[in-house]
Amino acid sequence: MSLKQYIDPNRIPEHVAIIMDGNGRWAQAHGEQRVFGHHNGVHAVHCTTQVAAELGVKYLTLYAFSTENWNRPQAEVDALMNLFVDTIERETPTLCENNIRLTAIGDLARLPERTREKFEECIRRTAQNTGMTLVLALSYSARWEITQAVRNIAAQVAEGTANLNQIDEGYVSRNLTTKDIPDPDLLIRTSGELRISNFLLWQIAYAELYFTDQYWPDFDEESFYKAIIDYQHRERRFGKTSEQLAK
Ligand code: FPP
Repeated sequence: MSLKQYIDPNRIPEHVAIIMDGNGRWAQAHGEQRVFGHHNGVHAVHCTTQVAAELGVKYLTLYAFSTENWNRPQAEVDALMNLFVDTIERETPTLCENNIRLTAIGDLARLPERTREKFEECIRRTAQNTGMTLVLALSYSARWEITQAVRNIAAQVAEGTANLNQIDEGYVSRNLTTKDIPDPDLLIRTSGELRISNFLLWQIAYAELYFTDQYWPDFDEESFYKAIIDYQHRERRFGKTSEQLAK
């Protein structure tokens, strides 16, 4: 029996962010090379995207490649870049059929030209879709993003288009790559690691954190439902007391 029946359709998180971890260990556990894990991780990406859209999640952000991932063996980096190209090519029609818009955050300029062009093409082709927004974090790290924002704001102050008194939390948020995206309500990390690994550090200030031991390629519909149910049992107080929330 599916866990779906236990989900309250009126309390679906607007934005779910996921650290997809454990592809390499999944492959090793199956006696295969790490890249085999990434290939199987694509199935979990497809399945999670479909199920999130069906439930009415408005934004799904997936940590597909971090700034630090550039330090992996070149063969693995190349394999991932090729996998992105193949996956985006294959999945663009599915995104369109499901009215899903693709967008990306991160230092896309570092991606190989062919990979960047594929993403840009898919972003263009899905730009008019009005359903869920799928955000891929590519060559992304929160410290990179915050550093860029600080540089931009400093330049605005230096050229006189901003003054110091104007710079509040909202101003900083509007200078991040996520400026058009609400903060995540729920952050999921697979593979049993209890870390944030430089992901959306500013944006997750009040996100509910959910960790599962499952490796990413094993994460399926039921795993996603379980995370949503867990989220729905949390009380989000945003610094207030329970009594204040009841009023
Ligand atoms: C982390 O597992 C996973 C990645 C660095 C890559 C994730 C990418 C995909 C699943 C492909 C998705 C494709 C698109 C287009 C979004 P790991 O290698 O760090 O695993 P480990 O911790 O077990 O070594």
